[in-house]
Amino acid sequence: MGIAMNDRFDLTEDQRLIRELARTIARERVAPHAAHYDATEAYPEASIRAISDAGFYGIWLPEQYGGTNLGCLALALVCEEIAWACAATATQYLDQPLGGLPILLAGTEAQKTKYLPRLATGELLAAYSLSEPGAGSDAAGLRTAATRKGDRYVLNGTKQWCTNGDHADVITVFATVDPKKRAKGVTAFLVERGMSGFVVGKKEKKMGIRASPTVALHFTDCAVPVANRLGEEGEGFTIAMQTLDITRPATGAMAVGIGQAALDAAVAYARERQQFGQAIAAFQGVQFMLADMAMQVHAARLMVYHAARQVDTGIRSNTYEASMAKCWAGDAAMKVATDAVQVFGGYGYTREYPVERFMRDAKIMQIYEGTNQIQRLIIAKELLGG
Ligand code: CAA
Repeated sequence: MGIAMNDRFDLTEDQRLIRELARTIARERVAPHAAHYDATEAYPEASIRAISDAGFYGIWLPEQYGGTNLGCLALALVCEEIAWACAATATQYLDQPLGGLPILLAGTEAQKTKYLPRLATGELLAAYSLSEPGAGSDAAGLRTAATRKGDRYVLNGTKQWCTNGDHADVITVFATVDPKKRAKGVTAFLVERGMSGFVVGKKEKKMGIRASPTVALHFTDCAVPVANRLGEEGEGFTIAMQTLDITRPATGAMAVGIGQAALDAAVAYARERQQFGQAIAAFQGVQFMLADMAMQVHAARLMVYHAARQVDTGIRSNTYEASMAKCWAGDAAMKVATDAVQVFGGYGYTREYPVERFMRDAKIMQIYEGTNQIQRLIIAKELLGG
C-alpha cells in the first residue's frame, strides 16, 4: 500500500482508534461481501451486523442517549473506511444519523429517550424522507400534506428516494401543513413502521449502491400522534437543512472512501500489468494520471475533515464548508473512479474487477444529499449573500 491513505492526518487518540477499528471491520467483514451484494441487490445483512457489532451506530450520539459522543469527524472516518469496502453499506450506515439527527436536534426529551438509545445500539433503524416525485432539489416544494385533527395529524401523499425506508423502524418524514407557505409550512414527523395508512412502495433498481434499498413511501390518511411531531409546525425545513449540514461532510467522506479504493486498485494494477515489456506504472502517462487521482482524493479528504471538525468544535452555520466538502469529494470520486477504469483498460470495464462498481457507486455521490449543482448554488449564495 502506498502513502495515499488517511494515516498522515492529525487525529485525536479516539479518532485514530475508531478509524483503525473501522478499517479492520471494513476490510475483514464488509469488503468480502461487497461484490455479492452489488450483484444480487440484496440487503447487506452481514455487513450491517458487522457495523452494529462494532458499536459504530452510537458514535454520533451523546453518552446520555447511549452513544459514545465521538462526533462528526469520527462518523466521517467510519463512513470513509466502510465506503472503501462497500459504498452501499456505508450509505445504510449514514442513514442512521440522517434519520436520527432530527430527533437529537429538535426532539423533546420524551422523543429523545424513546428513540435515541435504541438507535445507538442499532436495535432500531432510522431513515430520512424529504424528497418527493415532484420535489427533489426544490425540497421546499414538497406536497405531502399534514392536516391537524385533534391530537393527530393526518398524512397524505407520496415520498420518494427514501434510503432504507423498507427496513427502518422510524422515519423522519417531512410534510407540509400548508404548501403555499413553502419552507415555512414544512413540518417534521416521526413515522413508525406499521402505522396504519403508511405503506412502503416501489423499490428502485439503481445503477450503483445497489445493496442499499431506495423506496417510495405512500401515506393514505395516516394518523400520526401530535406527540410524534418534531419541533413546531413550520420548523421542519430548518431541521432538514441543519441535519444535512452535519451529514454532508460524512457523505463527502463516503466519496473519499470510494476514491481511495479506486486509487488503491489503480496503483496496484499499474504495478502489476505488463505492456511493452514493462509494468504500465513505468509510463509517465500513467504516473501522471495516478498523481492527479491522489491529489483529488487528498484535497477531498482535507475538505471533508475540515467541515466535520467544524461540527465537532461547535461551529454552527457550517453550510458553506459542508456543501464544498460534499461537492468536491463527490466530483473527485467520480473522476478518480472513471480514471481507475481507464488505468485497468478493457479489464476495468468488466465485472471481474471492482473498479466498474466504484465508478457506478461514485455517481450517486454527485446526486444524493443534494445534487452537486445544488451545493454550488448554496456556495454561491453564501458568497454573494441573499
Ligand atoms: N440551516 C438552517 N436553516 C436553513 C439552512 C441551513 N443550512 N438552509 C436554509 N435554511 C432556512 C433559511 O434560512 C430560510 O429560512 P428564513 O426564510 O427564515 O430565512 C429557509 O430555510 C428556506 O431557505 P431557502 O430560502 O434557502 O430555501 P430554498 O427553497 O431556496 O432552498 C435549497 C434551498 C438549498 C435549494 C434546499 O432546498 C436544498 O438543500 N435542496 C436539496 C435537497 C436535498 O439535499 N435533498 C437530499 C435529500 S436526502 C438524501 O438524498 C439522502 C439519501 O437518501 C441518502
